[in-house]
Amino acid sequence: MNQLFSPLKIKGVTLRNRIVMAPMCMYSSDNYGFVKPFHKTHYETRAMGGVSLVILEATAVESRGRISANDLGIWSDAHVDGLKEIVDGIHRHGALAGIQLAHAGRKCGVLSEDIIAPSPINFDDEDLSLRIPREMTERDIVDVIYAFEEATRRAKEAGFDVIELHGAHGYLINEFLSPLTNLREDKFSYNEAFGTRFIKDILSSVRQAWPEELPIFFRVSAEDYAEGGNTSYTISDALLTLKDSGIDLINVSSGGVVPARIHTFDGYQTKFAEIIKARTQYPVMAGGRIKTAQMAEEIIRNERAELVFLGRQLLIDPYFALHAAEDLKQEIDYTPVQYSRWKTSR
Ligand SMILES: Cc1cc2nc3c(=O)[nH]c(=O)nc-3n(C[C@H](O)[C@H](O)[C@H](O)COP(=O)(O)O)c2cc1C
Repeated sequence: MNQLFSPLKIKGVTLRNRIVMAPMCMYSSDNYGFVKPFHKTHYETRAMGGVSLVILEATAVESRGRISANDLGIWSDAHVDGLKEIVDGIHRHGALAGIQLAHAGRKCGVLSEDIIAPSPINFDDEDLSLRIPREMTERDIVDVIYAFEEATRRAKEAGFDVIELHGAHGYLINEFLSPLTNLREDKFSYNEAFGTRFIKDILSSVRQAWPEELPIFFRVSAEDYAEGGNTSYTISDALLTLKDSGIDLINVSSGGVVPARIHTFDGYQTKFAEIIKARTQYPVMAGGRIKTAQMAEEIIRNERAELVFLGRQLLIDPYFALHAAEDLKQEIDYTPVQYSRWKTSR
């Protein structure tokens, strides 16, 4: 069997193959974070197309944690019903449903909102449209931790199987984890355990609200692509301090902490995942410009990662997993029954 199509059990859930839909903001909500018909069709279609896990886009745990005014939200109980409809649509097709819980921190682009960060440093000095964030007080930190816990409780109510905490791309959690953005001198400082105190406290609250048998993923930026910033090695050191905090898998991405030119190529982030896996022994998910079944299969077969994520390829090919099965000549049994005739046309 191709390893890409082998199931993977993580805690109490089993993914039917190793192909995961990466979280991708669709900027299609209203100004209040509610689910729209577009979201339901969009996510259900990818589940129908055979991925094992659909991870919903960065979903804001506080209204000031939005990247844009059109982000999805999970900061109020009123958001649960819409999210549950998406979850039900994903489950109808045998995929698992995940949600990325996020706070934009200094990258909040909603002008009416308070903009907060570990330290009062702008994302880009040259962009005059960006506001300088307010340095978070300990009270702010407690509030945001509570917001993550409440969001987790709502994710459970909506029926999600996986939560992913967004610690990448220069958003709030990542801002604590990078020496370029965390200049604090208190217990949340970068010098105290690589800035992991904030995420550690989030994890300990979130674990109270999330069933023990369900997994928690953590997405990190393995490289800041800037002098003095994080690399796969420093991020590995940070992750080692979180070993007993309840993370089940690391989703390895990169960039976004400071403006930087990133040279991308097919598979450009796989090496980072491999380094983190080797140094920390966490299971990892690799991705970044994976477009072919062969590349995905190679990563899994060579045990470079436990899972692969696909983002943009799934935007143009929701049926990537079915195409991959065809390319790799793999029999699969989860084609939607209505579509099973595709096999007889070959
Ligand atoms: C339209 C779009 C929206 C994205 N939104 C998110 C997001 O909400 N959260 C996140 O962690 N990454 C986000 N990303 C990054 C993707 O998850 C993924 O890591 C990136 O696109 C690289 O994978 P790919 O080459 O397969 O697309 C987004 C990417 C795209 C293209």
